[in-house]
Amino acid sequence: TPVSLDRRFQDWIDAERKIEPRDWMPEAYRRTLIRQISQHAHSEIIGMQPEGNWITRAPSLRRKVALIAKVQDEAGHGLYLYSAAETLGASRDDMVADLLSGKAKYSSIFNYPTPSWADIGAIGWLVDGAAICNQVPLCRTSYGPYARAMVRVCKEESFHQRQGYEIMMALAQGTPEQKQMAQEALNRWWIPSLLMFGPPDDQSPNSAQSMKWKIKRHSNDDLRQRFVDMTVPQAEFLGLTLPDPDLKWNEERGHYDFGALPWDEFQAVLKGHGPCNRQRMAFRNKTFADGAWVREAASAYAEKQKARQAA
Ligand code: 3HC
Repeated sequence: TPVSLDRRFQDWIDAERKIEPRDWMPEAYRRTLIRQISQHAHSEIIGMQPEGNWITRAPSLRRKVALIAKVQDEAGHGLYLYSAAETLGASRDDMVADLLSGKAKYSSIFNYPTPSWADIGAIGWLVDGAAICNQVPLCRTSYGPYARAMVRVCKEESFHQRQGYEIMMALAQGTPEQKQMAQEALNRWWIPSLLMFGPPDDQSPNSAQSMKWKIKRHSNDDLRQRFVDMTVPQAEFLGLTLPDPDLKWNEERGHYDFGALPWDEFQAVLKGHGPCNRQRMAFRNKTFADGAWVREAASAYAEKQKARQAA
């Protein structure tokens, strides 16, 4: 009976067994994974834009090479994740169409501008740092293909985070103007990086079920707290000030307390009213159209290969 199937599935999850594409799974498990993995993939693809904006203006060849490598990695992460979603029966074309039409969500963090080179440092340090906090536990997510994709992604994210922190270190230890640039970028990216972890646990409709199915290993608030605790000493080492007057160590809790977050801003960004939502969508649609000839050529070539093999 369906109950025993669901029950057996939950026992399998509780026994820390990985679910593979051909295993039976509740439709809701499949649906929530397609939801999360496709949005994760969209985030990687849109995430290339804020950084790509500085490839032609990187201050040295070394910085340019590192940034090109990072942006290229993000594209690869997007492709792994679209492929992981396809193992659940999602169609690549449908997922891409949902992003292009504005129907699909992607991470709020990529709707903020990168007005100075220091933003590239702050993104690597904070956004990829936050991504690592969120993605390391995902290496143990219950769905096999997603967990395996995350192992490779996390290795590359560590390089992204380190190159970002090194940029911030160079600026913070540079001229007063460079240190000011780093401080302004930190002021721009700190709060949006905390929002990126998702709504507070008591306003997170998906968390309970995702935790039960071990898709999500830690709650949004737990990962956010872990990120704050890890990052405050790094900011102190740079001699930069975190833009939150309520941020202070709480000996009793063994964590940093921090100020209330602007959830109205978060909801506005999710509704498409962030600083760069329109620009990100317009650019993604333009690059999709500009790339049509590549997809046509690849399909024509694949058809020819197939005909040759069949002959
Ligand atoms: N941006 C946009 N939407 C967000 C969001 C964010 N930062 N945080 C939450 N949401 C959405 C959720 O998708 C959900 O909407 P939906 O039901 O329509 O999908 C709603 O807000 C409520 O949030 P929940 O906490 O209930 O949703 P989840 O349980 O899915 O948790 C999550 C949200 C923690 C982002 C989870 O989906 C997750 O871990 N996703 C995988 C990681 C990921 O997507 N990271 C994004 C950044 S990728 C990146 O950083 C690339 C790096 O190289 C820089």
